[in-house]
Amino acid sequence: MSARHELHPRPPETFAVPAPAMGPAVLAEHRLLRRLLQDVEDVLLSSLTSRIPVALSARLADLELALDAHFSHEERAGLFEEIVAVAPETTAAAAALLAEHGRIRRRVAALRLRALRAEGGTALANAVRRLLRDVASHERRENALVLETVATVVAAQD
Ligand SMILES: [Fe+2]
Ligand SMILES: [Fe+2]
Repeated sequence: MSARHELHPRPPETFAVPAPAMGPAVLAEHRLLRRLLQDVEDVLLSSLTSRIPVALSARLADLELALDAHFSHEERAGLFEEIVAVAPETTAAAAALLAEHGRIRRRVAALRLRALRAEGGTALANAVRRLLRDVASHERRENALVLETVATVVAAQD
């Protein structure tokens, strides 16, 4: 490749600030969460579903703590309010995501307790898989909203 086709990275502060302001932090936290979801999935893949390993409750405890910190960050920082302010057409989607925080918190706490008590076997494994899918879907839909908001801001600057 000739030199004139090379990309020359610029420091982030030289770019216009994209909205929402906490967007990059949220996207980074979502990458970390995907690793924790994978850690839980790995425990399920590496064990018989009829037997509940101690590692499952430990990984679910990690996920519970990380989700609580992450959801609290999104709520305290006003992520959804910021998104809706920039892109009012996302109001229903943003409200649905905010409402999911409470439901996901309760589900992960209940599943961790079931795993700790070694209750459930295959039913618990399936419930944990549904939780992993729903959390991944939650974060994907947030990523889409954040990126849509950035696109709205960029279009408005044209
Ligand atoms: Fe969220
Ligand atoms: Fe999130």
